[in-house]
Amino acid sequence: MKINDGRFSLSRNQCFFLFLVIGVVFFYYCTNIRNMAPDWNFKWLIQNNLTKLFTFRNVSLDWNRNWQTLETQTAQQTAAPYVSPGPYLVEYPYEYHFTINQELKCKQENPFVVLIVPVAPRNRAHRDVIRNSWGSEKLVNNQVVALLFLLGMQTGDDAEQVHQQLLQESNEHHDLIQGDFVDCYKNLTIKTMVMLEWLNSYCSSAAYAMKIDSDMFLNVPNLVSLLLKAPRTNYMTGLVEHRGQVSRVPTSRFYVPVDLVSDDVYPPYALGLGYILSLDLTKKLIEASRHVKALYIEDAYLGLCMRHLGIPPTDPPGWNLFHVFPIKYSRCEYSKIIATTTLQQMDRVWIWRDFKRPGRYC
Ligand SMILES: *[C@@H]1O[C@H](CO)[C@@H](O)[C@H](O)[C@H]1NC(C)=O
Repeated sequence: MKINDGRFSLSRNQCFFLFLVIGVVFFYYCTNIRNMAPDWNFKWLIQNNLTKLFTFRNVSLDWNRNWQTLETQTAQQTAAPYVSPGPYLVEYPYEYHFTINQELKCKQENPFVVLIVPVAPRNRAHRDVIRNSWGSEKLVNNQVVALLFLLGMQTGDDAEQVHQQLLQESNEHHDLIQGDFVDCYKNLTIKTMVMLEWLNSYCSSAAYAMKIDSDMFLNVPNLVSLLLKAPRTNYMTGLVEHRGQVSRVPTSRFYVPVDLVSDDVYPPYALGLGYILSLDLTKKLIEASRHVKALYIEDAYLGLCMRHLGIPPTDPPGWNLFHVFPIKYSRCEYSKIIATTTLQQMDRVWIWRDFKRPGRYC
């Protein structure tokens, strides 16, 4: 910047730089990049155009109203007429039942860590990719790793047909769990709570569970080494979001109205793409969920339950271990991480084969 005769002038480069800085600040202010992480993917981004970047995610809960939740929940359990919890809450707690189950899996395999992948009933392709890639790691560092897919119910005309196919798939692979709730995006919180209920009922002898999305790459050996050094209780880790901003933009995919949620920021929570729990937490979180309104944003909801318990999630021991923005594949890069989102066009089975071939990583 130069000051000539008391006047203020900028060179073209300085102007450009200034605009760039203002642009970056504005963009960051509007989007809060880390906040758009949990459901971020390229396909969605392209489908919704960049404008949606400005309407990402924002929530927090109104704690003073928790007692009302309890009242409503009790009412729902005793009174006959169905009352919808509205667009931002889900129908939980309920006792969901399992229409497909692996009751004995954990008793028989005695896993150290259980990987649970929520996936839509129809999405067999994703399940097969995982079975043929990181899901095939069954024994790592002398520790048993179990893999399960968690589904809800398919709705629509072909629901029965889909269910028959699932039964067949389950006979083949013995890795499906299906709860009797409607499987849809808005019901992810139910899916998560059903996962915790399942772990609590059928797998409480495992040391850890990891919830991981179906479009992720998981470096299982690195996961197991992390867990061998981790605390065995009150432990939740992953990509921990601190002070996640609350957006009040009604068109946002993550909008939650002020009367439901009054805080400006979430309590710390692990992003839903892949988080790890010590098994003692499943029971505690289920208990906490009775006192916290069942918000439809599943990972933030677990953060709220953790706050209720007074247990903060733990940051992973390195910033480079969990990635929400896809890391470009290279043997070297992937050998250092635990989990990353992948791009849709990446052939994950090929990547896995390449990754597992012998030889130096870097
Ligand atoms: C979520 O699941 C519950 C239980 O099955 C169901 O009543 C509700 O309609 C589902 N929500 C949506 C948006 O489909």
